[in-house]
Amino acid sequence: MLDNIKLSADGNAVIILDQTRLPCEVKYLNLTTAAEMKKAIVTLQVRGAPAIGIFAAYALYVLARNIPKSVDFFKKLNQYKDELNATRPTAVNLSHALERMLKAVGKTKNRKKALAALGEECRAIQHEDIAVCRSIAEYSLSLLKDNWGVLTYCNAGPLATSRYGTALGGLILGHERGYQFKAFCCETRPLMQGARLTAYELVEEGIDTTLICDNMASKLMSEGKIQACFVGCDRVAANGDTANKIGTSMIAVLAKHYKIPFYVFCPASTLDMTCKSGRDIIIEERSGEEIHTGYFKERITHKDVKICNPAFDVTPADLITAIVTEKGICKPPYSNSLKTVKKGS
Ligand code: MRU
Repeated sequence: MLDNIKLSADGNAVIILDQTRLPCEVKYLNLTTAAEMKKAIVTLQVRGAPAIGIFAAYALYVLARNIPKSVDFFKKLNQYKDELNATRPTAVNLSHALERMLKAVGKTKNRKKALAALGEECRAIQHEDIAVCRSIAEYSLSLLKDNWGVLTYCNAGPLATSRYGTALGGLILGHERGYQFKAFCCETRPLMQGARLTAYELVEEGIDTTLICDNMASKLMSEGKIQACFVGCDRVAANGDTANKIGTSMIAVLAKHYKIPFYVFCPASTLDMTCKSGRDIIIEERSGEEIHTGYFKERITHKDVKICNPAFDVTPADLITAIVTEKGICKPPYSNSLKTVKKGS
């Protein structure tokens, strides 16, 4: 398994695996400037809700270390935090990690103490995520039976988090324990996270993996090849509506039709009780160029066609069988079960 995010040995750079190059090229980037770090999030060189949070925490630490002595340290720190926070709106993990970083600094006005606190906190955020993913994987495995076919969407594996991932955790852990699963990955248009990243991760783990185009899911379900759908998510509202990669809700609708359980996996920190329902979740709209050209050699569309490119959609709570966090398996009614999990976290 590849390291996706780490701090350089001298603490002056964040090193990331460039997820836009996978699976053809394993390329690491040394990021030192605010511009490079913001670009990395916006262009999805680093992506996946928990990974964005971990990365932003390290980025803030590295930027803080390099604030010149002549500049108001705390003012600049807040400015960097706001700039990083503005890069992508949907995943709550980004703002959550950045808020944790500032909270760790607390009220101190001492630059050295603040830097020490920031350094500790970004490492803690990543270490905690490793434990969180492991716990989600255990709960996830308890939902699976040997030989099941599991459909997944986008990428919610180790690349998007820390070891094990969220939605892929049960499959990876189960495989380590000798289970035989059949994983089906949807390509996930337009940026192909399923084709490029999920299929890569699962094949590298040695799991029986089949890649399908997004519009093939219904056929496979109708043929009885899928026993469960496992997806990650970027934000969960208090009523259990969940935002995840565009197209996730389409899989949930199909799963309901074919009576296949549809599970959502995420850290408890992804639960956003300030959003009453999915209507309160901001959905990122991305450039139409991703659809015009995307991963194709040249434009495949008429240059004047209008493009709609929302990056996420909301799966209504009533289509979700359970929401699985490191604290346990939440079942409907979510307004009660999520509140209990949130209180305990
Ligand atoms: O646009 P992306 O690639 O960052 O979208 C990622 C997803 O939708 C994932 O499913 C989600 O972040 C969960 S990652 C554990």
